[in-house]
Amino acid sequence: MENLVFPLRTILEPLSLPELFAKPQPLEAELGCGDSSFLLEYARRNPGKNFIGVERLLGRISKLDRKGRRAGLTNVRGVRIESAYFLQRLLPPRAAHALHIYFPDPWPKLKHRRHRLVNEHFPALAGSALVPGGAVFLRTDDADYFQQMNDVFNAAKDFEKIETPAELAEVTTDFERDFNSQGIPTLRVAYRSKI
Ligand SMILES: C[S@@+](CC[C@H](N)C(=O)[O-])C[C@H]1O[C@@H](n2cnc3c(N)ncnc32)[C@H](O)[C@@H]1O
Repeated sequence: MENLVFPLRTILEPLSLPELFAKPQPLEAELGCGDSSFLLEYARRNPGKNFIGVERLLGRISKLDRKGRRAGLTNVRGVRIESAYFLQRLLPPRAAHALHIYFPDPWPKLKHRRHRLVNEHFPALAGSALVPGGAVFLRTDDADYFQQMNDVFNAAKDFEKIETPAELAEVTTDFERDFNSQGIPTLRVAYRSKI
């Protein structure tokens, strides 16, 4: 089986999805997938969908390859790249049925907040990546970032708030398990593209 972390030949053209996945199936992406434990388990439970994990750190995304191959998964691939760039340049337009963003770096210092992925520009970026009716699923431990996530999507007229399905919420991430074990709850919200 080939390496599950897709070797990018160019970062200037959109990915060819048939090159990544043998079966054409609805596509979902996790941005900042870390050790990929959520994505691998969710992909295992959803063989009728394809998944891309996006992560900038080699050490972390290597786990997607190692554990994914061991599990025999053929519906999950990794791409090592920055998440916003992935949405802007690598994902073909309106290709994703869902974007999962779990415990993105919170950048707690005021002067660093401009680095947050889910900022005022993000809903437009997500809207251009999602199929009509596609959804963004968000989780964080950080109350200030959670407020920002809600604010930017509530201000976006093309999105509406939805519930996170129970079968999705029950699949936890590595950071989530760590926070929850310290008594820190998961703050969770989701929005659907109306167009
Ligand atoms: C706090 S960890 C959370 C990992 C995982 N989502 C989880 O919940 O266990 C954030 C992850 O996002 C990655 N990351 C942060 N900013 C990124 C960016 N702009 N593009 C791609 N990956 C990013 C980090 O390297 C890290 O692995």
